[in-house]
Amino acid sequence: MLGFQEKYGDYLNKFNGKLDKFCSELTSKPSVLSESMKYSLLNGGKRIRPVLMYAVGDLIGADEEVFSDYALSLELIHTYSLIHDDLPEMDNDDYRRGKLTCHKVFGTGNAVLAGDGLLNTAYSILFNCCKRGREYTDAAGFVCKCAGIGGMIGGQSADLYCENNAISGEEWLEYIVLNKTAKLITAAVAVPPILKGGKYFLEFKQFGEDLGKLFQIVDDILDVQGDFGKLGKTIGKDKEENKLTYVTFYGIDKSRFIADVIYDKCIKILEGIDGDTEFLKQLTEFVRHREV
Ligand code: IPE
Ligand code: IPE
Ligand code: MG
Ligand code: MG
Ligand code: MG
Repeated sequence: MLGFQEKYGDYLNKFNGKLDKFCSELTSKPSVLSESMKYSLLNGGKRIRPVLMYAVGDLIGADEEVFSDYALSLELIHTYSLIHDDLPEMDNDDYRRGKLTCHKVFGTGNAVLAGDGLLNTAYSILFNCCKRGREYTDAAGFVCKCAGIGGMIGGQSADLYCENNAISGEEWLEYIVLNKTAKLITAAVAVPPILKGGKYFLEFKQFGEDLGKLFQIVDDILDVQGDFGKLGKTIGKDKEENKLTYVTFYGIDKSRFIADVIYDKCIKILEGIDGDTEFLKQLTEFVRHREV
């Protein structure tokens, strides 16, 4: 049996092959548009959303040829969200994945358009998937919802709103984390179940929401205790920008405690699913203790 690293590497290679092919065919006039899109797409990243989708797809026997299109569209949406998240008027970050942010290299206007281009292209891919039939349309609709105003965009808006108006509180914090981060992770694990007619959909939806929340709590902790060399983004930005995060609200120790509680919840959900969930358990462990 393959170890965690090997299996992650396997999924990563499969997905990167797909992404490389997509990028090699991506052109534009003027070329700066596709260049800026590729700069952000191909500059590393953990690819945790695609890897999650491949792992769940494998587990429940979904067709890779089909779900890999959803994985690609999700990574395009995630990358656009990062480009816009880093803009001076959002989080004002200079580094992402160890390199200068898109707007630092191409300028703010081009970075906005690179994000727009990624989002629009992601939707074109999803639109094509819909032609295959009902489940495919349902899965595409689910991704759109997770990325939209009741999902990632809504969460980002709430993140900005709380920052700009010095708003705090558990309710807003939960809303921000669920939407800005956990919804795209939920999309990653819910697409294969939808394509398989709803098999384990509710379990994976709950797993995605909890894993996504765990992912963001750890991101908030790493913003204080992480290492720039490993993380590839500037440390200490949340406090500097007056962000409402788990750490700014609860402090480090309580955030760690909450992360452990949610970790246990994720593992329990996986234990209720038939089949080999070992890799997903190890991935949950990685999310809890990651340094990258
Ligand atoms: C960063 O996501 C943004 C958050 C949701 C915290 P990732 O940590 O998955 O970023 P990459 O894709 O690996 O760079
Ligand atoms: C980002 O949250 C969530 C999205 C990009 C949707 P953060 O602002 O905490 O992510 P980082 O820390 O910049 O990666
Ligand atoms: Mg942000
Ligand atoms: Mg940010
Ligand atoms: Mg962060």
